[in-house]
Amino acid sequence: MRDKSVSVKLTDSSHKYTIQIGHNRLKFCGEWAISRLSEKTAKIVIVSNAKIFRLYGSIVQKSFEKAGFEVFVFLMKDGEKHKNLRSLENLLKFISENKLARTDAIVALGGGVVGDLAGFAAAVYLRGIALLQIPTTLLAMIDSSVGGKTGINSDLGKNLIGAFHQPNGVLIDIETLKTLPHRELVAGFCEAIKHGAISNRQLFDKTADFLMNYPPKNFRNYFSDENFLSKLENLLAAQVSFKAEIVMNDERESADRTDAKSRKILNFGHTLGHALEKVTDYEYFKHGEAVGYGILFAAELSKTLEILDENEVRLLNDVFHNLGKLPSVKNIEIEKVVQAFSFDKKNIGQTLQWILLKRIGEPVILSSEEISPKSFQKTLKKFLQT
Ligand SMILES: NC(=O)c1ccc[n+]([C@@H]2O[C@H](COP(=O)([O-])OP(=O)(O)OC[C@H]3O[C@@H](n4cnc5c(N)ncnc54)[C@H](O)[C@@H]3O)[C@@H](O)[C@H]2O)c1
Ligand SMILES: [Zn+2]
Repeated sequence: MRDKSVSVKLTDSSHKYTIQIGHNRLKFCGEWAISRLSEKTAKIVIVSNAKIFRLYGSIVQKSFEKAGFEVFVFLMKDGEKHKNLRSLENLLKFISENKLARTDAIVALGGGVVGDLAGFAAAVYLRGIALLQIPTTLLAMIDSSVGGKTGINSDLGKNLIGAFHQPNGVLIDIETLKTLPHRELVAGFCEAIKHGAISNRQLFDKTADFLMNYPPKNFRNYFSDENFLSKLENLLAAQVSFKAEIVMNDERESADRTDAKSRKILNFGHTLGHALEKVTDYEYFKHGEAVGYGILFAAELSKTLEILDENEVRLLNDVFHNLGKLPSVKNIEIEKVVQAFSFDKKNIGQTLQWILLKRIGEPVILSSEEISPKSFQKTLKKFLQT
């Protein structure tokens, strides 16, 4: 087995686990689970949805059964709107009816929606049982399965009910990306570009080079090429390492940290991103696509404020060019977007924070009070009209 692996060792909770990255791994997930779980684990609940389970469920279930686990399958409805209290209640009931004990485990097989719900159930059932993540979207692989944030949406807002619950292991099988819809893939790459932009030039260039050589259009055709598989695994390992490094040192996103290694910088591109999602009722954009615009806007604003060089802005635009077109922002009303900023949950008190760039790899956090309203409005107007 020549898998790549990334170790995560949390400073606050001293919890340790490994993220394994390879291809053709699903059929070995039972053995992998044995190595990640306690000897006492007898029962496993696989949480997924019908679409994903139809594609990958039987291979995963068989592998767990072969490894000696008693397996139960819970399928939630597909989509963000089902990451809610009702699904959580149904899942907890299912786990309880099947009498899982403190030593048993939950396995999330799916994207961020499945991962967040399954993770939250694992965090609260009997005050916490083991969780394994098998992410099947690019976003879940490089972002939501790393870092231990779990949660659901409610009337209070998106992701506002949740818990930190670190997994016992994450298994990334890149072959699952073969079936991922094009827009989901692009959305995941937007978050990958985000990581590149706020980490260092090396990760940025690695991501940009990958997208130049393997643009997401016709992505599934590359999978017969060993070189591609190895490059994709390398890229994911570098992406995951970056997120893990940030999370390891700021497990719970301290409110008072504003340095370039604080967990907050992962919200780069998300202030405008969340506003765009909100004004379009969370239906028009994929989250990552909205973040894609958020990244380009943050770069544009950084340029207007004369903290970022024009050439760096061009580099960022070039990478997005290789990604292909994002859904247009032309008909979005600027006033509504401005209004939506005030609802962003990343607001600290009354002040909105912007993560901007001094250079690729050098993020800086500014409060909106430090940004002249005139420059801001001008940049936003220009941005939404092009
Ligand atoms: N916990 C965190 O730290 C964190 C971080 C970022 C995002 N999130 C959350 O993640 C969620 C978004 O996750 P997502 O982008 O993975 O979306 P998702 O889970 O909704 O998956 C996107 C779509 O792809 C389908 N799908 C998944 N894997 C597939 C595959 N291999 N082949 C074919 N179809 C497949 C899903 O059924 C779904 O229809 C949001 O709820 C967001 O809040 C959490
Ligand atoms: Zn995001």
